[in-house]
Amino acid sequence: MESAICGIYRYGQQWDRGCVGNKGRKGMDMLSRERIDAIVHRYGRDILEHEHMEIAKRSMQHGDITTFEHSLRVARLSVRIADRLRLWNHVNLRALVRAALLHDYFLYDWHDADDGAHRLHGFRHPYTAERNARGDFEIDAIVSNSIRTHMFPLTPIPPKYLEGFIVNIADTLSAIQETFASRLSRKDERKPRP
Ligand SMILES: [Fe+2]
Ligand SMILES: [Fe+2]
Repeated sequence: MESAICGIYRYGQQWDRGCVGNKGRKGMDMLSRERIDAIVHRYGRDILEHEHMEIAKRSMQHGDITTFEHSLRVARLSVRIADRLRLWNHVNLRALVRAALLHDYFLYDWHDADDGAHRLHGFRHPYTAERNARGDFEIDAIVSNSIRTHMFPLTPIPPKYLEGFIVNIADTLSAIQETFASRLSRKDERKPRP
């Protein structure tokens, strides 16, 4: 845990100084958008660049947002939540980022008409995502459990780890935001132009 927390601060001199002897992070600034992005890429670059992510880039998730974009948003928001709630001493940052990036690694477009294999997508996809993630990456117990339980309470078993709860909340907030944003933009498009 400690090494992951200190890892953040190697991104800039300012943060190096802020970290030393300040485990409680009292009086420290919040992570900027750019720094959050750097953290996500640092811990998740191999996932973001994996060839199977091409499928996620072609698959729509909510509204106009692809599964790839959604996963990236969930990862950024997960790091933001951990930062804003001052949870650095309690989360494994690497596992948090990787769980968020892989939580919807089911690798198909669930909107596609098919032979019924995507029926019950909402209930089944966490298990498919976990299986795919295991196939393509070495994932630890935190990542594995967080992927499997990210749809709780739709699926019955809650996350076992704090990282899983954060991904669960970030996923829910992102899904709501993405769905409403696309509905609003569609409504806007339908409005007669002056
Ligand atoms: Fe999901
Ligand atoms: Fe999701």
